[in-house]
Amino acid sequence: MRILVTGAEGILGRAIREWLASGNTLYLWGRDEVDVRDKDRVLAAAKGIEFDAVVHAAAMTAVDRCETEFDLAMATNRDGTSHVASLARERGATLVYLSTDYVFDGTKEGPYLEDDPPQPINAYGRSKLAGEEIAREVAGKSLTVRTSWVFGEGGANFVDAIAEKLKRGDTPEVVTDQRGSPTYARDLARGIEKLLRLGTTGTVHVTNSGETTWYGLAVEIARDLGSPLQVRETTSDRFTRPAPRPKNSVLSGKRYQALTGESLPRWEDAVRDYLGRRWLAQRGAAA
Ligand SMILES: NC(=O)c1ccc[n+]([C@@H]2O[C@H](COP(=O)([O-])OP(=O)(O)OC[C@H]3O[C@@H](n4cnc5c(N)ncnc54)[C@H](OP(=O)(O)O)[C@@H]3O)[C@@H](O)[C@H]2O)c1
Repeated sequence: MRILVTGAEGILGRAIREWLASGNTLYLWGRDEVDVRDKDRVLAAAKGIEFDAVVHAAAMTAVDRCETEFDLAMATNRDGTSHVASLARERGATLVYLSTDYVFDGTKEGPYLEDDPPQPINAYGRSKLAGEEIAREVAGKSLTVRTSWVFGEGGANFVDAIAEKLKRGDTPEVVTDQRGSPTYARDLARGIEKLLRLGTTGTVHVTNSGETTWYGLAVEIARDLGSPLQVRETTSDRFTRPAPRPKNSVLSGKRYQALTGESLPRWEDAVRDYLGRRWLAQRGAAA
């Protein structure tokens, strides 16, 4: 497949570069090459290249910053998506729009299904939902992939933040009252490729299997790293941040499983794998 990737320097973009390079032709756009807010640039940069799909991973993802810079969040996550969707339509390519568990309000008991009504409770979620709507409206063929709690190389993420804290000897204090499914960018990249090869359109939730809290994830990281430090429990009302987070944002993987005949690996295995790679690589480099 020939795949154009926006946000190529981000966590998902880098995973696509690393894990989907073999068997595909990739065109990688980082922010320096193409700012997706600039429609003319988006259309001009694609002149002379042919692609079957666009994985639109560029986004403003700093959840708290979106609260105070909502205009920028909308310009990036909604208008930028509209520009990329126009390009996809013009070329007859499938647009893969990456969306988030934060389009839900978190009040549901149990995992969210693709058809559950979105009701974002923060600015990031509102801007990403606006992106979903414009992607469907503008692109001829579109696949919305909602994912959650993404970790991997190439950007700020919870797994690295906790690992670095533990490495410094600081005890992390982490909330026990937000549930979700951690997702390794590598597994997400492979999941997207699988859906594209099947010609899937519509909305599909793609996360690692299983669920936990941020606290549970931090405990797992500490265990994997063999840290002697104990992760401390806290709750959202004591650990306040500009953007509220949903209490439950677990996404059901049933549709993905029905479409592909498989589930992504368990989140615990994915975290162990990622930490092993990263830390073994670091130790190797230090030796
Ligand atoms: N990370 C998560 O936990 C998570 C969860 C659910 C859904 N998602 C979605 O998954 C997708 C990929 O996220 P990610 O984890 O790879 O995030 P990421 O690491 O923040 O990558 C996003 C990339 O987009 C770039 N970007 C921002 N504004 C841009 C613009 N105007 N033009 C071009 N590029 C721009 C960023 O560049 P700068 O670094 O220079 O800003 C960054 O390289 C996003 O759509 C995100 O909303 C992520």
